[in-house]
Amino acid sequence: MNVPIVRAVAQLRMTVAQWRREGASIAVVPTMGALHEGHLSLVRAAFEKADRVIVTLFVNPKQFNSAADLAAYPRTEEEDAAKLAPLGAHLLYAPDATEMYPNGFATTVSVAGVSEGLCGAFRPGHFDGVATVVAKLFLQTGADLAFFGEKDFQQLHVVRRMTRDLDIPISITGCPTVREADGLALSSRNVRLTQAERRAAPKLASILFEAARQLSEGAPVSQIISEARAAILAAGYAQVEYLELRAEENLEPLPALDQPARLLVAAWLGGTRLIDNVKVLPEQAPTAGCGMRAQLRRD
Ligand code: PAF
Repeated sequence: MNVPIVRAVAQLRMTVAQWRREGASIAVVPTMGALHEGHLSLVRAAFEKADRVIVTLFVNPKQFNSAADLAAYPRTEEEDAAKLAPLGAHLLYAPDATEMYPNGFATTVSVAGVSEGLCGAFRPGHFDGVATVVAKLFLQTGADLAFFGEKDFQQLHVVRRMTRDLDIPISITGCPTVREADGLALSSRNVRLTQAERRAAPKLASILFEAARQLSEGAPVSQIISEARAAILAAGYAQVEYLELRAEENLEPLPALDQPARLLVAAWLGGTRLIDNVKVLPEQAPTAGCGMRAQLRRD
């Protein structure tokens, strides 16, 4: 069955009100479309927890730094709806820009702290755009639960902080990054890679996993980061915007691996900016009867 597409917030609210009368719980999966297996894994996770699943599709102009990047962003609504239908998504909310930001729109949601550094340093205003639209999507859908990918790990922190600070009654779940068989993290931007770039792209993930393994075995953070940065450039990437070890809990920079962490990267391959991150756990002290090695989980 086709997924009903709703474009107006008033109609969305009427549908949600009916579901509420039926006693249903509601999940939302915010997306900008160009759906891939990563998005579909979020929809499946949402179905495990909620009676009704709304997928949103809105290419949010406020979170793009460059007009060219916004114009080049893939728009594939028909294919997206076709991918959602077999999963049984209850509604695709796809407002246009004037529905989301009517004339006179003047409000920005800005999250300090976790939005600074990393992508925030290279994409000024990006997380203001994300926080503003996600706050609106939460309020428009009135959902109980929301699902986001861990590939955008800083975004996940920004959304969690914003939700807590604004007392929006919604529970946020982060879901593991989905990867191609060769390790490349799925991204709507991967379609922009040339064939040669696509062959080089997975080296980013393999370098990250190797660096994470060495860190978890106690190698010095600054040395591993500078070696991994050099390896990314040697693999054909043109520029490494950042490669940093941050605390998993609050994204604070970590000069030493003394708590669960993430190694996060943004790098340019030709004209495409790719981001990725992996979990890094400090080596665990051996305990009586169980000499555990550091656990490095692929995610
Ligand atoms: O991750 C994305 O696709 C977007 O940043 C989001 C969360 C849908 C907001 O536009």
